[in-house]
Amino acid sequence: MTALAALAAFGLLALSGLAAAQTVGPNAEAEKCLSCHGDQSLGTIDVGGVQKTLFVDATVYGTSLHGLLDCTSCHLGFKPRRHVAAESANWLETAKLTACGNCHADQFAMYSGSFHGHLALGQTGSNAPLCADCHLAHNVVDVHSTAFRRSILDLCGRCHGGRSSTYLDSYHGKAALLGDNATAVCTDCHGAHRILPASDPASTISKQSIVQTCAKCHPGANRNFAGFLVHVDPRSPHSNFWVWLFYAFYITLIVCIFTFGGVHTALYIYRGFKDGLYNRRGH
Ligand code: HEC
Ligand code: HEC
Ligand code: HEC
Ligand code: HEC
Ligand code: HEC
Ligand code: HEC
Ligand code: HEC
Repeated sequence: MTALAALAAFGLLALSGLAAAQTVGPNAEAEKCLSCHGDQSLGTIDVGGVQKTLFVDATVYGTSLHGLLDCTSCHLGFKPRRHVAAESANWLETAKLTACGNCHADQFAMYSGSFHGHLALGQTGSNAPLCADCHLAHNVVDVHSTAFRRSILDLCGRCHGGRSSTYLDSYHGKAALLGDNATAVCTDCHGAHRILPASDPASTISKQSIVQTCAKCHPGANRNFAGFLVHVDPRSPHSNFWVWLFYAFYITLIVCIFTFGGVHTALYIYRGFKDGLYNRRGH
């Protein structure tokens, strides 16, 4: 009897152990989809002109922050079978943008009011980033992790190459390249979801709020400090006229000095030949 009870207790323990193990990784609903999509030989499909694999790695998915979600929380209306046209219609925008809003309403609301959001929601085929362009689809990571923070420069740089290179020339950019994680990256100054152009007073980089934005990390920052130029391309007069003028003057000065030096030396040597300065027999 006691042996039986012990066995039963052991069985229960084993069962609860199993249950605990199952709380990590794809759930039973997701497994139904993975019966096909867990197969690496399923092939590829065309997603916006790029061939992507239909294979979803169960381990990567299961250990991501979304590991416990049903696949259908983003792929609304999909059934675990060969799909019909009604399921596939408009699936990409649903998965990358609208479905996310069902659970992350705050971020969705901020995004809707942003420059990117206006573009994305206002016109089809815009080049603005959707949620899943910045957060990976099946491998969402903790946004406070160092890995995510480090990825931000590439993330924004993909579409804003010019701004990215002027940033990398600045103090913060050089510090970031050297591995400093406390230094300012794009989203520290521009925000992540409510990004607005400088001309909008509500923007984090507007005249009205720039001091406050710098003061997050530079206590006591004032207007003068905030006037520090983050994105300046000295080679373009449209970027900052005075910096360009100074740069152009500097380059002209250097060219003049070297030209003068070169001509002077050449004449000196010429004169030397003429005067037989280099003629050994003359000595
Ligand atoms: C019987 C195998 C099978 C099952 C089960 C299955 N899929 Fe698919 N899935 C496919 C195939 C094959 C494609 C390639 C496109 C096509 O032929 O429809 C595909 C394509 C997709 C796509 C790309 C968009 C599209 O429609 O082409 C998504 C998203 C998707 N499946 C999600 C799911 C989800 C979510 C589940 C579970 C609810 C699921 N699939 C279950 C076979 C399957
Ligand atoms: C958090 C939302 C989310 C969840 C949950 C999710 N997906 Fe996706 N899925 C996406 C997004 C976004 C894309 C489009 C990625 C892209 O741009 O290619 C996508 C694309 C796909 C594709 C098309 C291939 C591709 O890479 O574009 C398949 C197949 C797919 N998902 C299957 C699944 C399966 C199976 C599950 C569950 C195990 C799942 N998804 C769970 C968001 C999700
Ligand atoms: C342009 C890139 C970008 C886009 C587009 C984007 N995010 Fe984010 N998201 C970030 C960054 C960067 C963070 C890190 C937090 C920060 O810097 O404020 C973040 C943080 C988050 C967080 C963690 C909580 C928080 O607010 O810090 C959630 C949830 C989130 N985003 C969901 C979404 C959803 C949903 C969408 C679409 C409506 C979206 N994101 C669009 C870049 C983006
Ligand atoms: C069914 C609800 C649901 C959907 C749909 C969903 N998420 Fe999530 N998301 C969650 C939950 C739950 C977490 C985990 C929260 C936690 O652990 O703090 C999470 C976490 C996140 C995080 C990490 C937040 C952090 O604090 O680091 C990001 C980023 C995120 N989701 C973005 C997205 C994006 C982008 C989409 C659409 C492609 C999406 N989510 C769709 C429920 C959802
Ligand atoms: C998928 C491409 C894409 C990504 C990724 C992206 N943006 Fe944009 N962004 C755009 C487009 C398109 C516009 C509209 C204006 C334009 O054409 O330059 C825009 C506009 C802006 C503006 C408004 C000012 C302007 O140039 O008119 C700011 C500020 C901005 N983005 C910052 C960022 C930051 C910061 C990130 C990273 C968190 C980011 N963007 C990621 C495509 C992108
Ligand atoms: C230290 C703060 C700071 C950082 C970090 C920063 N920026 Fe900026 N950014 C600004 C300020 C201030 C402006 C407005 C003045 C200007 O145009 O130079 C601006 C302007 C912009 C604009 C044009 C906005 C408009 O309204 O015309 C874009 C796009 C942009 N930044 C993208 C980026 C990207 C991409 C990164 C990261 C690679 C980045 N920024 C990093 C402060 C910053
Ligand atoms: C996310 C935090 C953060 C934000 C936001 C930020 N910075 Fe910085 N900044 C730093 C760090 C960290 C350093 C390096 C300080 C050190 O250790 O020398 C730095 C250094 C600097 C330096 C050079 C050294 C110094 O202290 O004089 C200047 C100039 C500067 N920042 C200007 C700005 C301006 C202007 C803004 C707003 C447009 C800004 N920063 C926003 C974190 C930030």
